[in-house]
Amino acid sequence: MDLHVTLDRAAGRLAGQLADELRAAVRDGRLSPGDRLPSSRDLAGDLEVSRGVVVTAYEQLVAEGFILSRQGDGTRVAPFPAVRAPEPTSEAHRRALRFAAGTDAGPADPPGIVYDLRPGKPDLASFPRERWTAAVRDVLRELPHSALNYPDPAGVPALRTALAGHLARVRAAVTDPDEIVITAGVAQMLAVVPRILIEEGHRVLAVEDPLGHHQIPMIRATGVEMAGVPVDEEGIDVGALARTGARAVLVTPAHQFPTGVVLSPRRRAALVEWARAVDALIIEDDYDGEFRYDRDPVGCLQGLAPERVVLAGSVSKALSPALRLGWAVAPPWLAVRLRAARALHDLGSSVLDQHVLAHLIAGGDHARHLRLMRRKYRARRDAFVAALRARLPAVRIHGVSAGLHAYAELPEACEETRVVTRAAELGVAIEGVTPMRVRHPGPPAIVVGYARLTEHRLTEAVGLLASAIETA
Ligand SMILES: Cc1ncc(COP(=O)(O)O)c(C=O)c1O
Repeated sequence: MDLHVTLDRAAGRLAGQLADELRAAVRDGRLSPGDRLPSSRDLAGDLEVSRGVVVTAYEQLVAEGFILSRQGDGTRVAPFPAVRAPEPTSEAHRRALRFAAGTDAGPADPPGIVYDLRPGKPDLASFPRERWTAAVRDVLRELPHSALNYPDPAGVPALRTALAGHLARVRAAVTDPDEIVITAGVAQMLAVVPRILIEEGHRVLAVEDPLGHHQIPMIRATGVEMAGVPVDEEGIDVGALARTGARAVLVTPAHQFPTGVVLSPRRRAALVEWARAVDALIIEDDYDGEFRYDRDPVGCLQGLAPERVVLAGSVSKALSPALRLGWAVAPPWLAVRLRAARALHDLGSSVLDQHVLAHLIAGGDHARHLRLMRRKYRARRDAFVAALRARLPAVRIHGVSAGLHAYAELPEACEETRVVTRAAELGVAIEGVTPMRVRHPGPPAIVVGYARLTEHRLTEAVGLLASAIETA
């Protein structure tokens, strides 16, 4: 392999830099499918870095599906060229979409709950109030009056540009500000994309089974039929997906909600292959992709097949769900349709909030906040898992060290609803997995959000959870 790789030693993160360089080489065709990469020892020698740097970079790219590593065959570029295939941009249909009336304002804290461990919310007390206030002041000082008009429904250019850089850096996404549409959160994507699919002649949307229970009614309200596809230790079962006959699927590859597993490299490749074979759309819900604690986050699926994947994310986990601010990175044809949907339905998101977020991203405050929150959440997760292992060794934690929730499988004899009810009686709010299932039954399990409690309070809550399981 004769490949030009530049590493900035002073900047640190050598493995991350090397992964970025190799990923870029695959994307722009300097490395082709099937190309053999040098052994970690040889490349480390060429680059004058430790072998561990190359091994870590290779592991990252294997996890993301860019390269394959096989005993006896060395390391090769995966068979799917991650190049951007042009898609038609001219079909700007202006048909009205009908939204289901009424939104769920979200659950209030139930009475009598002392430890709220329901999943889905970040630590609201950590919202960077001062930085946000300072950014509002800066933005108001700088913005001309004309900017306070109705925005481009796809979002203000400053935010789309800032996000393009952020998502490329943090999620290894392939981004172009023109293909980013600002949304009112991932929820808006789940309400809009199925309606676009129906307009395009789809009847069925495949979903992971189980999936987020708040998402189920939202998707049902669009009128699309949901086909639940089982999830195992490697993520969605792509064989079962193909058998549904669906040509669109909603997945959570970075950290499956709720089971916490990461979509394996094999399954990533198979999912992309399926999408290309049947001309399908993959909706990638990247709801907590910025939070991985044991290693660099696995890059998003969109980076592997930007022409097939719409990447949906939001600031709901990183900052606050109160902002109702998110994004979709879409193939060009879909970006046009999403922009049209916003033009038809709500004329876009708050200009001021968009500029404030752009300011925080561009100035580095957002990245600093993410680093702080990763440390905080990691400590909380570790404390929760340690307490659970000590008090409840028969309960099995699934998935990787990531996100804001953990999936805990209960012993077979436990009755899940009784455990949830008994925990609530003892002042601990958790959720069972059963309401998150579409069709496929499975072992009893609970889903626990650990983001909002300190380590000490999490340990106390686990004590009560143990009593609930023992007395349910
Ligand atoms: C699976 C999943 N997707 C998406 C979201 C975020 O939705 P939004 O960005 O609309 O706040 C959540 C939040 O709880 C979630 O659990």
